Amino acid sequence: MLEKINQTAEYIRSRVDGQMPTTAIILGTGLGALVDHIDDKQYIPYTDIPNFPVSTVEGHSGNLIFGRLGDRRVIAMQGRFHYYEGYDMKQVTFPVRVFKALGVDTLFVSNAAGGMNPEFRVGEIMIITDHINLFPENPLRGKNYSELGPRFPAMTEAYDKNLIRLADSIAAELDIRVKHGVYVGTPGPTFETPAEYEYFRIIGGDAVGMSTVPEVIVANHAGIKVFGVSVITDLGGKDITEVPTHEEVQKAAMAAQPKMMEIMRKLVNRF
Ligand code: HPA
Repeated sequence: MLEKINQTAEYIRSRVDGQMPTTAIILGTGLGALVDHIDDKQYIPYTDIPNFPVSTVEGHSGNLIFGRLGDRRVIAMQGRFHYYEGYDMKQVTFPVRVFKALGVDTLFVSNAAGGMNPEFRVGEIMIITDHINLFPENPLRGKNYSELGPRFPAMTEAYDKNLIRLADSIAAELDIRVKHGVYVGTPGPTFETPAEYEYFRIIGGDAVGMSTVPEVIVANHAGIKVFGVSVITDLGGKDITEVPTHEEVQKAAMAAQPKMMEIMRKLVNRF
């Protein structure tokens, strides 16, 4: 594993001009267009990168993008790897390991999520304050490499409090209302039954989605600070009979994209 990480990091360094960024962004659903604001872009297709899995899901193209977002150099992942596509947890989180090897110390992630909190509305933005891991496997299962992080890492502040505070003040300046909440990470690919949405609400969740938690666990293990945000694309609960679809999720995420992008752009430049 260490060898693979270093080999991949080495390859990426050889492909990129200039200094390596210390900030990485995973462009999930609803943040894809942030790419348009990255200047001096250099693309590396995932298919070129040794040891990288290849993204298959509709609506995601697979590239690492190096460039500048405002004044800050960033690495952006255009397309992420989902557990439901068949990748194992080590593959899903491999890019985060490589980011660490490249010197990244802060990770920004976004996703689309179904809202269980009855106060949430479709199109709203939820800053992730904590998560509940319901994936069937933890990405850290198996041999621990102490070079990468501790055997038993704390997850007490998986989402950096200072970044959350700063994002709140940026949202207020922009007059964008944001919610806070707990993200429940599930393997997918099924959306939830009404009883499952209800159950996730009862155990403390505000929104549910099929990504993010694996990457956040590995980032924390590696000592990388995390900021995460969800777009609420549909609502679920025991009395909600609307049927969520992939198309509806994409559409709601697109509609919320400008708000999400503004917050992220400012945040990445100011932290
Ligand atoms: N459930 C799980 N994942 C999701 C949802 C949902 O309702 N919406 C967007 N991603």
